[in-house]
Amino acid sequence: MHGWIVPPPKEPAKSREEFKKEREEKVRWLIRHGYLRSERIRDAVLKVPREDFIPLPYRDYAYLEVPLPLPGENATISCPHSYPLFYEALGLDEGHRFLEVGLGSGYGAALAREIVGPYGLVVSLEIDPLTFQFARKNLENAGYEDMILVKGDGGLGYPERSPYDRICITAACLEPPPPLLEQLKTGGRLKLRR
Ligand SMILES: C[S@@+](CC[C@H](N)C(=O)[O-])C[C@H]1O[C@@H](n2cnc3c(N)ncnc32)[C@H](O)[C@@H]1O
Repeated sequence: MHGWIVPPPKEPAKSREEFKKEREEKVRWLIRHGYLRSERIRDAVLKVPREDFIPLPYRDYAYLEVPLPLPGENATISCPHSYPLFYEALGLDEGHRFLEVGLGSGYGAALAREIVGPYGLVVSLEIDPLTFQFARKNLENAGYEDMILVKGDGGLGYPERSPYDRICITAACLEPPPPLLEQLKTGGRLKLRR
């Protein structure tokens, strides 16, 4: 994680109430700084407890603007602002069929699930088996059972449920892999993390 100072691991000490206050404060900060604009994305960030997607030794840092380590090789949960930054740019909305490459902690998938709602679809792929297991557990514990989680190379996408309205590549990637472009709807949008 170049350029970021990850705080030291520690015993978690914060209460649910403290996390809720931090989440509300974070949402105000995201709006003030122009990251959060749409109501659906704002409501999702307010609803999903980010702390539940973070390994215990880093849980108290859930709302700091730093990526935090996850089980697996080089896996991280991105900074809080990265999610509205991506989802606002994608125009992610109710009813969308959404594909994520890089499930990580499962937090981004949970947010997307809230945004697309019951008539939308969330498919997420993760290449690292340890990270995949961690995310699956987090999502189960948080009650998110209605999404498709796939262990494997996200560059191949998931043609079984294509086409997708929106695709988000959260793993570093210079060019969109051709299979993902093929699985994107005409007029759909894809966002890359370079
Ligand atoms: C920045 S993290 C994603 C953060 C995640 N969206 C979250 O909410 O926690 C990037 C993830 O992409 C995964 N990854 C890297 N290359 C991949 C690939 N080719 N296919 C699927 N996942 C990949 C990494 O293991 C890592 O978990």
